[in-house]
Amino acid sequence: MGTGTYVIRGGVEGRERLRLLSEVMGPSTRALLAEVGIPAGSICLDVGCGGGDVTFELARAAGPSGRVIGVDLDETKLDIARREAGQHGLSNISFEAWDVVEWEPGGLFDVIYARFLLTHLPNPGALVSALRRHTRPGGVIIVEDIDYRGHFAEPDCRALARAVEFYTKSVQARGADPHIGPRLPRLLRESGLEDVQMRLVHPAGLHGGVKLLICVTLENIADTILAIASPPRRSSGRRSKSSMPSHVILTPCSADRASSKRGVVTGGRGRWEKIGGWDGLPDVRVRTSKTDGEHRVPTESHLTKGQFSNSLSRNAPLTLAV
Ligand SMILES: C[S@@+](CC[C@H](N)C(=O)[O-])C[C@H]1O[C@@H](n2cnc3c(N)ncnc32)[C@H](O)[C@@H]1O
Repeated sequence: MGTGTYVIRGGVEGRERLRLLSEVMGPSTRALLAEVGIPAGSICLDVGCGGGDVTFELARAAGPSGRVIGVDLDETKLDIARREAGQHGLSNISFEAWDVVEWEPGGLFDVIYARFLLTHLPNPGALVSALRRHTRPGGVIIVEDIDYRGHFAEPDCRALARAVEFYTKSVQARGADPHIGPRLPRLLRESGLEDVQMRLVHPAGLHGGVKLLICVTLENIADTILAIASPPRRSSGRRSKSSMPSHVILTPCSADRASSKRGVVTGGRGRWEKIGGWDGLPDVRVRTSKTDGEHRVPTESHLTKGQFSNSLSRNAPLTLAV
């Protein structure tokens, strides 16, 4: 199954990123579910469930007399979720691989939940309407989603601004909306839902997962950035225009992932610009990928600061260091 319009790397790496996301969002999500109230015995649906972190919460709340289905298009994440559901002793849960854009669930649900899914869909209103049709009278739809403009650093940080720009352009290039948050009440009302309510949650912190998430997200959209930066050739042989740089990113992060010494280096056409964060990093692992005809072949090397400029002059197309 393909990845639809989803811009973030899937599979095991994508699942690991979602653990970090859940570390950041877990407390507010649990508070929201408690506030809404998931009665025991509820039949629940978690659309775009990823690795199932919230599906597990719903299954615990619904209890043995309830049932939860998690749906996602990423079969690797779903396999991991099935295994972990067993480890948590949750037998009232099942996971199904579907593209939600094409999926028509069988039956009605008491609770339908979606976190950070609508932002990835070109037509989120169509899905909300479909979900409403599958909500039992008196049931509830719970949506958590993002406004990517909310990122901030004090003092301002160019690396952060660049990372936000890359993410924003990646999602927009797939026709979706990285700023969907404020649109949610209208989308829900337009689908015919009543009694729509809204809360604003803004995770912030001085260290830990909330700061790391943007770096890990940047690492995990590298493939999308490259794809957008190097659009396929037209029949004329010319590449179509792209607003993204032709070479992508390095995110030098110190070996200690919790360290604040982070930065982003961007480059294009042999000119590379350091935005910040390099100083004091003893060793940087750089993952590049070369193209051998059709395939991207990942390579990895360790660089010191001195070696770094040499490697850049070779115009290594990509990315990422830890
Ligand atoms: C940002 S993740 C959020 C995962 C989960 N809701 C959570 O909060 O941990 C978005 C998830 O939606 C899935 N997804 C994106 N587009 C989808 C589609 N069209 N159909 C099904 N799943 C989709 C992705 O595979 C990914 O697992």
